[in-house]
Amino acid sequence: MKVTVFGTGYVGLVTGTCLADVGHDVLCVDVDQKKVDNLKNGIIPIFEPGLEPIVKQAVQNGLLNFTTNMDEAVDHGELQFIAVGTPSGEDGSADLQYVVAVAKTIGQRMNGYKAVVNKSTVPIGTAEKVSEALLGELNARGVDVPFDVVSNPEFLKEGAAINDFMKPDRIVVGTNSERAEKLLRELYAPFNRSHDRMIFMDVRSAELTKYAANAMLATKISFINEMANLAEKLGADIEQVRNGIGADPRIGYQFIYPGCGYGGSCFPKDVKAIINIAKNVDYQASLMEAVDRVNHIQKSKLYTYVTKHFGGNLKGKTFALWGLAFKPNTDDMREAPSRVLIEALWAAGAKVQAYDPVAMDETQHIYGLREDLKLVGTKEAALEKADALIICTEWKTFRAPNFELIKSTLLNPVVFDGRNLYEPERMLEYGFDYYAVGRGKSVTQYQ
Ligand code: UDX
Repeated sequence: MKVTVFGTGYVGLVTGTCLADVGHDVLCVDVDQKKVDNLKNGIIPIFEPGLEPIVKQAVQNGLLNFTTNMDEAVDHGELQFIAVGTPSGEDGSADLQYVVAVAKTIGQRMNGYKAVVNKSTVPIGTAEKVSEALLGELNARGVDVPFDVVSNPEFLKEGAAINDFMKPDRIVVGTNSERAEKLLRELYAPFNRSHDRMIFMDVRSAELTKYAANAMLATKISFINEMANLAEKLGADIEQVRNGIGADPRIGYQFIYPGCGYGGSCFPKDVKAIINIAKNVDYQASLMEAVDRVNHIQKSKLYTYVTKHFGGNLKGKTFALWGLAFKPNTDDMREAPSRVLIEALWAAGAKVQAYDPVAMDETQHIYGLREDLKLVGTKEAALEKADALIICTEWKTFRAPNFELIKSTLLNPVVFDGRNLYEPERMLEYGFDYYAVGRGKSVTQYQ
């Protein structure tokens, strides 16, 4: 099938590439000429394991093409995916200008039926706005061409996006058009083989499904973080509690890992957006407000431990930091807990010496060159002459380090672990002061 994808960001590129990989003829569109030129040569602008070889192969097979030409783009696909950004406005509401611009682009050029598929995470009611924008352009041209606007939210996890796309748990499609339903069924047939994963519903419900899914997951994380904070005060160990509650299949083991807060491009933005969406219909989303608040507190937690440990005086101290990305297997720094920590340490007059397997270029890009930030080539180098070690991301390489080396290299044997990577008892045996999240014994003695 011929498919056009507007936006070669994270969602657009993964969607276009995976569709081309199973044989669809995909044209990806972006306004950024340099990005398009690079993509044509298989150079991808994001870090996503497994993506680059599939892009290269699909380009070679002639099934994945890139363009900045809007006429060509609209002409190409019967299916037109919108996968452009929806950044948060000041008040947390999603900014729809790019989505609407694509709708207009399509309306200005289409001459035959199009199914316009919304992949971007957008407020409930956006499909109607897209329809209006598109129809406005058709009317202005004085033409009458049929189209459908479909909501097809993505559920990709960064670092696992290819697998999530190729083997989806579900494919949610919001439409009331039989024609669009048929097209989407055919499009996704290669990903829908062992059992039917397609869930059709009305457009508004599909739009809300995306927010509800992310809101639920963010709620689980803030819930466990709140329990962890309580466990700390009560001298209980949240890791044992996590095991205990996860065994109940109604609760499950997933997404109840306590830590230094959730980050990334989705949860923080979507939780804030849903609070805003609720406000607009005169409803106060109290639970979502609490989820957001707990996360905000959680992101300052490591800093709170650090200041407490050093008696409030961090001036002139140097901190080794392991992990910058908001989670492993990505270089994404959006809303990363590490940023809250780094900025608080700087404000207190401390320096940061950091290592991350892939996010250091991105960090450099965000903060530029500064004297209080040193990005080093190995995790061991980060420890040199540092007053303590702080861990923000659970990269595999941090899981079983040489503890003797850590101890002998640091100026003080102190570890602040925002991801509960180590056993508190072992750490105490090694002679560390060890702060983890909600692990009773590891922390209470310092309170
Ligand atoms: C998320 C959703 O999982 C995905 O379905 C949606 O399409 C986009 O948003 P992503 O942002 O890539 O994906 O990351 P995810 O793996 O969900 O992690 C989000 C954040 O939550 C990370 O900062 C992670 O460290 C944190 N997290 C996750 C926890 O703190 N504890 C957990 O138990 C799970």
